[in-house]
Amino acid sequence: MLENIEYSDYKKREDIHGTVLYPAVMIAPIQNEVLTELIQKNKITSVFDPFHGSGTALYEAMEIDSNLHLVGCDINPLANLITRVKLDGVSKNIKDSLTLLIKHINNPGVVETIKFPNIEKWFRKDIIETLSIIKAAILQIENDNDRRFFWIMLCDCIRKYSNTRSSTYKLHKKESEKIERIENNLIKDYIKAIEQNFKKYEKCTENYILYKRDVLGLLKELPSRIFDISISSPPYGDNATTVPYGQFSMLDLYIIDKRDLELEGWELDNYSIIDRMSLGGNKKETKLGEFEKGLIKPYLDKISIEKQEKVIRFFNDYFVWLEGLCKVTDKFIVLTLGNRTVDRIKINLTEITQKYLESREFKNIEFAEREIPNKRTPKVTSMVDLKPVDSMTKEYIIVHERRK
Ligand SMILES: C[S@@+](CC[C@H](N)C(=O)[O-])C[C@H]1O[C@@H](n2cnc3c(N)ncnc32)[C@H](O)[C@@H]1O
Repeated sequence: MLENIEYSDYKKREDIHGTVLYPAVMIAPIQNEVLTELIQKNKITSVFDPFHGSGTALYEAMEIDSNLHLVGCDINPLANLITRVKLDGVSKNIKDSLTLLIKHINNPGVVETIKFPNIEKWFRKDIIETLSIIKAAILQIENDNDRRFFWIMLCDCIRKYSNTRSSTYKLHKKESEKIERIENNLIKDYIKAIEQNFKKYEKCTENYILYKRDVLGLLKELPSRIFDISISSPPYGDNATTVPYGQFSMLDLYIIDKRDLELEGWELDNYSIIDRMSLGGNKKETKLGEFEKGLIKPYLDKISIEKQEKVIRFFNDYFVWLEGLCKVTDKFIVLTLGNRTVDRIKINLTEITQKYLESREFKNIEFAEREIPNKRTPKVTSMVDLKPVDSMTKEYIIVHERRK
């Protein structure tokens, strides 16, 4: 297992995972390789991804064996929608749905204009009008699977035709000249995306549950040892200073009709709320145990007091998550991890996680590392004492097995 995991020639564009952009996705063939081996050699009936994001691992598990019971969780409603569509697939009549969609786009009638806070900062007026026509047309599609597929096909177009830069996952307005130069080919690009991608959504399973909520609460409620394999890539730090999954998703979430989103009610309150509600984002009382404190102390001692607070807050949640993960997993834990840098100190999340899992009866059986190509998160993320600081460039895959 995991002998050569560079997969430098793997192009997401060719498979389902390249059809919608989501930040920091796992490399599908690696997840497939690990899952295939574990499934072939052990009696596996269930797979759990506690931070499923765009559903890479759950979809790959379905491809390997469509009878597997799949369970996933994510706090971000966009991640929930993308994964749901990947697992539901489209209907057999998708071509008819597309014909109907095009008919409604070409004959829009009276259309309600999309409105949400600061919309004019993020879209040109003509783009808002076009998006409103597309939204009204999608709402005419009665088949739930096809309608949801049409929403997620719109996401990359929303980003492309918005006023935000493509160089970062944060919302960051482009220069005015660049905004003025955008050619409005939105409808053409949108239809093309659907035509190019619907065949990739032919597979489906009914054997899944997705939870749209904070995984820390979910783990408390789930019984012990109910999943054979837990496979995931957790956030590497709080969203605000690492990857802002929430902010990245907000334009889509304001445009997609609420009835097709799984919402708890607070998600659309403002542009930063999903990131604040995510792992390490909320101020909570510190309750690290002595063992956990010992694991992060060597790093804390080397970073400034102001930055220590954020790191402690993240690990506070991270260890609660790991504890819950050990509780619910019966056989294997598979994690893809990155080591982030704070104040030029590399926080070895991989080693910390391995030590924690070993202390909880999960012994390490595999360890592999790979370079991360084409990252949007820049290699140099900030300056300390006027010197640039390296961000993560490698990711690590670890497999732990519960001791017999
Ligand atoms: C590294 S991404 C997962 C990417 C995924 N493996 C993929 O291939 O698309 C981490 C995910 O954790 C989610 N997340 C962060 N904090 C969470 C929490 N407290 N509960 C549930 N999900 C959370 C984020 O929304 C994000 O989708």
